[in-house]
Amino acid sequence: MQNKEGSQKEKHSSSYGGITSGGHSPLSYNSYLMVEELKKLQVCQSEPAHHDEPLFIIIHQTYELWFKLMIHELDLVVSLLNQDKVRRATHYMRRVVAIMRVLVQQIHILETMAPRDFLGFRDKLNPASGFQSSQFREIEFMAGLKEERFLQHFRQDKEAYENLVKRFNEPSLEEVFYGYLRRHGFKLPTTPAGSDEEESRKFEAARIEELLALYDDETDGKYIDLHDLAERFIDLDELISLWRTHHVTVVERIIGFKRGTGGSEGVGYLRSTLYKRCFPDLWHLRTALK
Ligand code: HEM
Repeated sequence: MQNKEGSQKEKHSSSYGGITSGGHSPLSYNSYLMVEELKKLQVCQSEPAHHDEPLFIIIHQTYELWFKLMIHELDLVVSLLNQDKVRRATHYMRRVVAIMRVLVQQIHILETMAPRDFLGFRDKLNPASGFQSSQFREIEFMAGLKEERFLQHFRQDKEAYENLVKRFNEPSLEEVFYGYLRRHGFKLPTTPAGSDEEESRKFEAARIEELLALYDDETDGKYIDLHDLAERFIDLDELISLWRTHHVTVVERIIGFKRGTGGSEGVGYLRSTLYKRCFPDLWHLRTALK
């Protein structure tokens, strides 16, 4: 399952993403994709099984499969950038963005589930919650949205916890991108830990001043590849934010202002996440453009 860049240079994909190889012979469509096994993975908690519970399970499972692929691709993006291969990195970022676009739309399938139908099995799901999606947190951590408090939801799940701690301590996409830019002459000061708001703004302004070159038409295409990559990062950030907006709207439509099964306030909590940004400098840069 590994491509050339992955197999030649990277060993991380299989250890992090759980991408494995192995054969079935003779091969058929069903055996290759393990369709029979896949079909056995939807186990309802309601008894007798509520008609809508398979929808609820399958939509979450497909999200998790796409999350798995996103992590696999993002690992390669990081590795390629560390090897200074900007165009290849951008190629795989485009794939990540294309997946995320599907994920924004997919949530709406749930709107075909009436609020009362969800109530028919919701209490059986306690205390399971999207809070415990370790792959969602992994993507957030890789993209730079690192909040230590989320680790506590994984204390019972050793493998997920250790993986997330590892991701928490690794450079984010923005840091990897800035690492590349610094190696190529850009002066991008890091905001020192503990800086107050005013100081942070000064460091941010200095970075933006440098990053503006990527958006400068006068450089006559010199930074066109870096511009392209920066805009794919913005695509990802925008789509994550759109996913949050669509998710919270669907949640309100289905459960109103009830508390979440994960114990949060529900819609109130989800609304508080809408303005999280993975690449704040690239967003603020727009205001500085003249
Ligand atoms: C009936 C459909 C759904 C409802 C009512 C619902 C409800 C909620 C609620 C109330 C929360 C806040 C945490 C809590 O207290 O539980 C939450 C978080 C979350 N949900 Fe959903 N959800 C639904 C569908 C989905 C789907 C299809 C996904 C796909 C992966 C998903 C992924 C998440 C994630 C990742 C979080 C954590 C968000 C964050 O902390 O920023 N949810 N959900």
